[in-house]
Amino acid sequence: MLLDSIVQKALSDIVGAPDITALNETRVKYLGKKGEITLQMKQVANISPEKRPAFGKDVNMARANVEQALKVKRDELEALDNRRRLEKEKIDITLPGRSALPGALHPLTKVYYELRDIFLGMGFDVVEGPEVEFDKYNFEMLNIPKEHPARDAQDTFYVSDDVVLRTHTSPVQIRTMLEQKPPIRIVCPGRVYRHDDVDATHSPVFMQLEGLVVDKNIRFSDLKGAIEAFLKSYYGEDVKTKFRPGFFPFTEPSAEVDVTCAACGGDGCSACKRTGMIEVLGCGLVNPVVLENCGIDPREYSGFAFGMGIDRLANTKYAIPDIRLLYENDIRFLRQFI
Ligand code: DAH
Repeated sequence: MLLDSIVQKALSDIVGAPDITALNETRVKYLGKKGEITLQMKQVANISPEKRPAFGKDVNMARANVEQALKVKRDELEALDNRRRLEKEKIDITLPGRSALPGALHPLTKVYYELRDIFLGMGFDVVEGPEVEFDKYNFEMLNIPKEHPARDAQDTFYVSDDVVLRTHTSPVQIRTMLEQKPPIRIVCPGRVYRHDDVDATHSPVFMQLEGLVVDKNIRFSDLKGAIEAFLKSYYGEDVKTKFRPGFFPFTEPSAEVDVTCAACGGDGCSACKRTGMIEVLGCGLVNPVVLENCGIDPREYSGFAFGMGIDRLANTKYAIPDIRLLYENDIRFLRQFI
């Protein structure tokens, strides 16, 4: 019978449909407006009334069978599609993830923490002072009178006639001695400002660490012992130190201290101007005038002080050739210190 053969053909087309598009075409071929089974249904009108019910039932059954087969095949193809897509989108969860770059301390902060820990270990307290400072504390009471060359307008940022951006951390000595009676043993870290053009060794803002000890019977040998102990613990036991006579208005006698150049290990290179040594700090016995300015009797007390650039300490230890590297924050440079 014709209807049976149409159904057979439809079923085999359905089973053989390779994808949804082909299956849709098959649907149209048999059940669409001009589909073969639809056309059969339209034949009903031409069938004699007594055969009509049976014919109608057969065609309806044929249609139902084909629809059922289409549904089964569609589900199957959709499942297959899904599986293929999932396969393609599969994430390899065994791959290690990309780790986020963790924050890290800036090399200057690290060096400062290291210096601070050394001095805390030696019994010093940490004291801070303001960056906008009275001229009186930054200069005058440190025995740097108005006409002193260190006050040259070239070097100092004046906020007003009697207020400056501090040019060193030494004013914290004055503030401390005005507030505190001896014994005093402090270090003072912080930013300082100078009217300098930027180059490999100068920056208008840099970091210093100041130290001050005031007590009875403080002598130059105490200063020398403390500085040497500090430098050995920061640079390592093998570091060579050299005390040279120097001049600072607030200390008397004064010295400048050199250490072995890290860049050449003491052989001499451009960083140390072929001397094998690099200057890292200034120091001396507190000038009695300064003690007196702060109401401390120099016949009863004496003291020593020292001051250093934290940038310089970082550069000399890690052989960093240019101070700008510490302030430009190039991530490729900073990463070396993580
Ligand atoms: N204040 C000096 C400077 O900025 C550094 C210094 C030298 C500090 C000797 C001191 C010292 O306390 O005793 O150049």
